[in-house]
Amino acid sequence: LNVLFVVSEVEGFAKTGGLADVGYALPKALAEIGHNVVVVMPRYYVIDKNTLEHIPISSDVLLGESTLRFGAFKSKLLDSDVDIYFVDYEAFFGRKGLYDDGFVAYHDNAERFIFFSKAALELSKSIGFKPDIVHLNDWQTAAAGVVLRHDDYFRDSAVVLTIHNLQHQGFFDKQKFGLLNVDWSHFNPFEFEALGGLNLLKGGIALADAITTVSKKYSQEIQTPQFGFGLHEHIKAHSFKLFGILNGVDYKQWNPKTDRFIKSNYDIDSLENKQRCKEELVSIFNLSLNDNTPLIGFIGRLVKQKGIELLAASIEDVLKRLDVGFVLLGAGELWAEQFFSNIAARFRDRFGCFIGYSYELAHKIEAGCDMFLMPSLFEPCGLNQIYSLRYATLPIVRAVGGLDDTVKNYDTKTGEGWGFKFWDATPKALFDTVKWAISVFKENKKDFTAMQKRAMQLRFDWKNSAKNYVDVYSWARIYKRLKNG
Ligand code: ADP
Ligand code: GLC
Repeated sequence: LNVLFVVSEVEGFAKTGGLADVGYALPKALAEIGHNVVVVMPRYYVIDKNTLEHIPISSDVLLGESTLRFGAFKSKLLDSDVDIYFVDYEAFFGRKGLYDDGFVAYHDNAERFIFFSKAALELSKSIGFKPDIVHLNDWQTAAAGVVLRHDDYFRDSAVVLTIHNLQHQGFFDKQKFGLLNVDWSHFNPFEFEALGGLNLLKGGIALADAITTVSKKYSQEIQTPQFGFGLHEHIKAHSFKLFGILNGVDYKQWNPKTDRFIKSNYDIDSLENKQRCKEELVSIFNLSLNDNTPLIGFIGRLVKQKGIELLAASIEDVLKRLDVGFVLLGAGELWAEQFFSNIAARFRDRFGCFIGYSYELAHKIEAGCDMFLMPSLFEPCGLNQIYSLRYATLPIVRAVGGLDDTVKNYDTKTGEGWGFKFWDATPKALFDTVKWAISVFKENKKDFTAMQKRAMQLRFDWKNSAKNYVDVYSWARIYKRLKNG
């Protein structure tokens, strides 16, 4: 199949979160199982054009009343032969951030991403790529789903839209609908209209031939008021074309056996080397822990979604009442950055904190910790808990979305499982579960080690996920044909 994969971030070029991991790994896996994939993303300012190949095309995009001419660059996805194209338009993407200036969203995000969605389609035409599937990701690309309906070039292209995070929907003032240059009849409560405004994701969901979420559990959750961010009824109405496909892991990057960022490589038969990684991590953060004190890690965006308020509300108790060390790597909301830095200053020996982004440190934390905490309020998939499993770092998670799908709770009777789960979004549930995990670590080494070995053997292969996407692609093509009669 010819797949046009349109995404706003890709690992190796520009990243804010897990979307970039998928934007890189899924197209690569699709290519590896024999499909012809072209990736398109914006050329943000952080991507140096001198490292890219210039493509001698210039195409026009009609954006409302204006005609904008853009250029293009080309490169390959890391370690692969897959072509990635970059839409070059300085006025929209020549800025520091991807979506915001570090504090607030850019005021012209509707213009920027409707433009990008349209430009990706124009680019596909300019390079003569005729997609069987146009695969869109999140609100940033959702506009393409309606635009291509009115373009004969894409007559035979089926549209698949993946929802990575329903919290962000691309909600704008009604007037911005004009930027799509499609008939106003699409501005209705079953398509792009929500609360009197424009909702790009909502319209994208209505118009796609198939929609996917990044775990099965999340595909069910978003049909409920608790997780639906106002769109649960809309999604329920489209649930016949909704599929849940779990993300995979790029085991070339996340493998303790070959990881070049960690102190000592290890695998299931050399698990004792993990201790050296812990020692290095302890020394990086200048902690001082007793011999049998477990170390728990946290990596992630410091935003509400990740359960940082639960963590903030319980961390003092955890550190005062339990024998444990903690390291945190993240950046995000200012209050949280300050709060956790302050905890680090107060509990110098046992709480280490790095505010910022570090790929290398992320690897060291995955390897050096005994357990990994993800107390998310919601989690469409979550990648770090899956990385943790490969590193024998047992996840402590709230049982939502992909966290629930990937972590099997420890069973005290049979010893089965490979992690620790809690259900209530309360500081108490978090505290109790951390306490439970620590007690298993300290008092039941046999079960703990057995779980670590089990975790290391699990595989969440992208190849497998890619095959599931291909099944959805086929489904979408058939559905499109039937729909059109
Ligand atoms: P989300 O996409 O919601 O942020 P995921 O778990 O899907 O959550 O993906 C997060 C990705 O971003 C992972 O690859 C993780 O390692 C990475 N990451 C997040 N914050 C940081 C950070 N401060 N430093 C290094 N990597 C980070
Ligand atoms: C989103 C979700 C995260 C998921 C990632 C990649 O950012 O928050 O759970 O893993 O997308 O699909």
